[in-house]
Amino acid sequence: MSSSLSEESTLTTTRVSGMRVALAVSGGIAAYKAAEVLRGLQRAGCRVRVAMTERATEFVTPLTFRALSGEHVIVDDYAPDNPDPIAHITFSQTVDLLLVAPATANIIAKFAHGIADDFVTSTYLACTAPILIAPAMNTTMWNHPATARNLRQLRADGVHVVEPDAGEMACGTIGPGRLSDPALIVAAALDILSQTGAHHVAPHLNDLAGERVLITAGATREEIDPVRFLSNRSSGRMGYALAEAALARGAEVTVVAGVTTVQPPADVRLMRATSAAEMHAAVSGEIEKTTVFIAAAAVSDYRPATRAANKLKKSQSNLTLTLEPTPDILADVADRRHDGLLVIGFAAETEDMLRHAREKLTRKRLDAIVANDVAGDGAGFDTETNVISLLAHDRETPIELPLMSKLEAAHRVLDEVARLRRAPAKREIISANP
Ligand code: C5P
Repeated sequence: MSSSLSEESTLTTTRVSGMRVALAVSGGIAAYKAAEVLRGLQRAGCRVRVAMTERATEFVTPLTFRALSGEHVIVDDYAPDNPDPIAHITFSQTVDLLLVAPATANIIAKFAHGIADDFVTSTYLACTAPILIAPAMNTTMWNHPATARNLRQLRADGVHVVEPDAGEMACGTIGPGRLSDPALIVAAALDILSQTGAHHVAPHLNDLAGERVLITAGATREEIDPVRFLSNRSSGRMGYALAEAALARGAEVTVVAGVTTVQPPADVRLMRATSAAEMHAAVSGEIEKTTVFIAAAAVSDYRPATRAANKLKKSQSNLTLTLEPTPDILADVADRRHDGLLVIGFAAETEDMLRHAREKLTRKRLDAIVANDVAGDGAGFDTETNVISLLAHDRETPIELPLMSKLEAAHRVLDEVARLRRAPAKREIISANP
């Protein structure tokens, strides 16, 4: 029994790992317990961002949640220090779950009536993900017909509720209204996340509007003679998935595709380049007008030093090919980057993936790198799915994501692009310490 329970919790953890939760904290004495909820979600592998009502900050400081989540805590999206002026839209539409804990009688009433007079209530209205609330309030407030009416309304609107406990309250009364056990709140949240199955992708997300994204995709071919070439097993799926996801998020997208075995997304601007040199030339011609460069192509690192004009003849002796390096397109773009250009690379590895990826991120001076273990099951070349880890120049710990479709993986990469765009520029730190 205990082994099946732990198997079940391992399974849930695997399925929710990397999923994104917005934790909204409203102003009740139970606000401090939200820290425990946050830790429980993190232990299950979720990424948590916190929003607070103004009142909640009187019980717990935003700094506490900032330290625990490692992310900016939003109280007022109009505040000058908030890097994202439409945070209630981007925040609410890039999460897989909005969890409100504790939810006061006041916030429940506002939700029920569609009032959006602060960040948390605007986030609620703009949210397309499932919503879970954990009410906490004085027993008389909980028993009030107005609260009961508002909760009925929220349930009818599809909101999930973790019922409060009955017990001794902070105010001394005994009865229902005490915030449910944080572990139960976490379990309810994980339950909803694991039922969602696929990561929630906001249908009308427009967070890359205004970005001009240039993506390389597929394999390059380096000719040996008129009939033979050096190449690799890349299908172009990952690059095309990135293009599809970026288009869906409002970006203008150009793909420079090498040899691919799948169809490009409709509406994408497609340029073809067979060899690394051709791909380099195509990228160089586009880069000035690009704001995000993502190098997803599997570019051949070497090419024959000479291309034979005629088909090489078979002979009895060994044949030696002399290879020379191809231009490193990604490193060249990063070296010559113009202001505001974000540069994202890929690191396909078969061993010691994270170490190699970190080394490439630093050496090539990238903003982020997508590491994938191409030897793993369901990952890498010519598969529908991928297992990726995201490393960024401004974050020490990599985000290790579970097995997912290449389209979902593409959205997670673009979440990182959107985050980097909002983050204060820190590139000089890396440039100063190459
Ligand atoms: O150093 P390595 O070749 O493993 O780096 C992989 C990353 O560099 C990928 O993003 C790939 O698209 C890019 N790359 C490139 N030009 C090359 C070789 C790799 O843009 N010649």
